[in-house]
Amino acid sequence: MNRIRLLPEQVANQIAAGEVVERPASVVKELVENALDAQVSRITVEIQAGGRSLVRVTDDGVGMNRDDALLCLERHATSKIQKAEDLAAITTMGFRGEALPSIASVSRFTLTTRERNGDTPEGTQVVVHGGKILEVKSAGHAPGTDVEVRQLFYNLPARRKFLRSEETERAHVQHYLTLAALAFPEVGFTFLQDQRPVWQLPPLRSDGPLASKQAALQERLRALLGAEAKLLPVDYFTEIGELDEPGDISRPSSPDTRPSTLRIWGFLGAPGVSRATREDQHLFVNRRPVENRALNFALLEGYHTALMKGRYPVCCLFLELDPAEVDVNIHPSKREVKFRREKAVRRHAAEAVRRTLLNFHTAPGKAQIEVESSKLKVERAVATGIPPIQPGNSIEPSATDHRNSSVRGARFAFACSARFQRRRAAAQGASASGRRGWPALRRARIRPRPSADGPARGA
Ligand SMILES: Nc1ncnc2c1ncn2[C@@H]1O[C@H](COP(=O)(O)OP(=O)(O)OP(=O)(O)O)[C@@H](O)[C@H]1O
Ligand SMILES: [Mg+2]
Repeated sequence: MNRIRLLPEQVANQIAAGEVVERPASVVKELVENALDAQVSRITVEIQAGGRSLVRVTDDGVGMNRDDALLCLERHATSKIQKAEDLAAITTMGFRGEALPSIASVSRFTLTTRERNGDTPEGTQVVVHGGKILEVKSAGHAPGTDVEVRQLFYNLPARRKFLRSEETERAHVQHYLTLAALAFPEVGFTFLQDQRPVWQLPPLRSDGPLASKQAALQERLRALLGAEAKLLPVDYFTEIGELDEPGDISRPSSPDTRPSTLRIWGFLGAPGVSRATREDQHLFVNRRPVENRALNFALLEGYHTALMKGRYPVCCLFLELDPAEVDVNIHPSKREVKFRREKAVRRHAAEAVRRTLLNFHTAPGKAQIEVESSKLKVERAVATGIPPIQPGNSIEPSATDHRNSSVRGARFAFACSARFQRRRAAAQGASASGRRGWPALRRARIRPRPSADGPARGA
């Protein structure tokens, strides 16, 4: 007797959904990625009870006609790739045609959509519960798409039980949205939680030269992560070619050995700015937020001794390279990527970090422009070499003080040290209590500055 049976499609879908849909944040990620692939200018994300009872994503993108609205719920139905070769150069966030059927198979799902350039003024609404299509009807709708996902895992109690508290789930959603909003400043994002607005980020101009992209990113960083005084702009451009991978030279005709460009840009924490975890390390490859061990190592290599052991950088870095150089199809939720020339990418990423830090020490004007343009209270730091302490930032003595040959670098590193800050605070306390002049300063063991720096001392 045959023991092997084909699983009913609905059961197969639910099993596959386990790969795509882990928690409400995965639903938000998939729906927002779909919207980003649909040339949107605004996305609204609404969640209730941390996304357990409702996730709704509304966009003003290209939308779908009735046929597509039905087809998109079929497994492996996608408009983003057509043949196997397309997998080698993916330029969209999605490409597997799995997300919507997976989500629809484990929730009460409603898709309402209308084509932006369609012939009819009418939209389509499809209602699906646990993977079963219940209703398909015409519906009035603005051009674009609205997907409503209620009661996630209502039909899989075992999965629902594993969801964490509302607060934890909400934090995961917010974390993903932060990454999406950083990667796509030209898209306006609205985030509503339990009907209260959490953010309302207007679309920003970020096309054209790198300066405008940097400015837009900086604006988003400020809006989402708050003031960060000591971020240095990164701009690094190189060619990765056969010489980067000596092993490949023996195969000069292989497409892998053709040179290709790599741009690394964004912002990086100055020496002394670090975290105990990687939570403020945001890395993007062709705008996709990623985790990649090679890049993690590259960052630590680039900082070298400017970062204490056990501390991690603060950064928001974008790597832009030919999609053929990156495999995004190695992880079920596309969180990880693999570089074709991993060694070269790692080496150049480390070099980008190293050069940025070196630039900071040797070209004060550049750092100054950055700091001033962020309208943060650092003018005084640049003028006096004494950076302000930011809440939450670790101010650590940088090892560059004895490694870097730049005197300015050494001074800055010393100014960052907690010892110096303590002494300075002691001196300020002394002068506030009326004990001015040399004795108070000597007690704090600080050499007085020339009179031009006078106001900074008492400030
Ligand atoms: N918001 C949207 N606007 C317009 N079209 C959409 C939208 N969401 C989905 N679609 C269409 O539905 C198709 C299926 O979406 P789905 O997310 O299931 O797969 P995918 O995005 O192609 O690949 P992946 O499973 O990797 O996300 C998409 O290829 C796209 O054509
Ligand atoms: Mg998708």
